[in-house]
Amino acid sequence: MDRSVMTKAVVATAFGGPEVLSVIEVPAGPPGPGEVLISVRAAGTNPIDYKRYSGAMGRDPARLPMRLGSEAAGVVTEAADGAEGPGGRIRAGDEVIAYPIAGGYAADVVVPASSVIPKPAALSFGQASGTMLTGVTAWHALAAGQVGAGDTVLVHGASGGVGLMAVQLAAASGARVIGTASPGAHALLREFGVEPVTYGAGLEERVRALAPDGVDAAVDAVGGDEALDTSLALVADHGRIVTLLASRRAFDSGVKVIGGAPGADPGTEIRAAARLELARLAEHGKLRVIVAATYPLAEAAAAHEALATGHTRGKIVLVP
Ligand SMILES: NC(=O)c1ccc[n+]([C@@H]2O[C@H](COP(=O)([O-])OP(=O)(O)OC[C@H]3O[C@@H](n4cnc5c(N)ncnc54)[C@H](OP(=O)(O)O)[C@@H]3O)[C@@H](O)[C@H]2O)c1
Repeated sequence: MDRSVMTKAVVATAFGGPEVLSVIEVPAGPPGPGEVLISVRAAGTNPIDYKRYSGAMGRDPARLPMRLGSEAAGVVTEAADGAEGPGGRIRAGDEVIAYPIAGGYAADVVVPASSVIPKPAALSFGQASGTMLTGVTAWHALAAGQVGAGDTVLVHGASGGVGLMAVQLAAASGARVIGTASPGAHALLREFGVEPVTYGAGLEERVRALAPDGVDAAVDAVGGDEALDTSLALVADHGRIVTLLASRRAFDSGVKVIGGAPGADPGTEIRAAARLELARLAEHGKLRVIVAATYPLAEAAAAHEALATGHTRGKIVLVP
């Protein structure tokens, strides 16, 4: 007997800009062995989501229509017998975060139990849906840069999704944090104890005015020459410069490139383990997640247009 139900999901029907997104009906469930069916209450959006259908990562027609969304928060509708995630047994009715998953931009989604952890009660579903991808990335970046107490760390892109996680985790570890952002985000960064610096021409000098002897480590969530050149000039040990944006220059410069790009360090284990740590910090009010905007699933294209401007402060979230 087919027990699947029909649900709504966002798909890219072609390669291109956000205009290729639409909502279609797809089957959901029942969960197979080791799987969990979730009623999605919020889905976190991330730049990788629009990069996947932009054409920049290839245009294989076999990938269309393309489901999107690698993180979500919701309520478990049905769990396979014995389903267990990193936080223990999963049962119907549990409020959870699911990451990493495929197809999170949906009203219902079947996910592996291994991706499901309890939602911290202190976070709304919207906040919870935007915590993990950025959080584990920031966690991995700081570990790769060996950032800890007594260090001064420079975070490029401090007011974005990953940046806001990185500055909070770095400050919690006892580091002094200098973060780059446009002036409109400086007050927000100060709330997190960050010393803000405006990016653009003269960046190196502005950071040097705050840290005349340079900085110990850098996390680059922006990419491009300005951030890389500034990091190379200010960090003596280039192995303590960590970038999320793979480029020929980054690899050739001897900095650490992390993430899913070919040749980058995926940090699979450290990222998987970080999920429960991040949830624990959030539960204890030690990790703030800022929801910059919320859009209905049907307006995913508008959400991606906003995200693609590259000036989001926090997370953009979709709700079914
Ligand atoms: N390798 C990995 O594992 C990995 C994981 C996650 C993300 N990423 C990538 O990392 C990048 C950042 O991701 P995200 O989720 O943080 O994106 P995001 O939230 O969209 O980042 C937006 C932020 O970037 C800031 N920004 C834009 N241009 C800047 C510049 N030149 N200098 C400093 N800040 C600048 C903006 O600040 P203002 O508004 O002040 O301009 C805004 O706050 C994306 O390209 C993403 O694909 C990689």
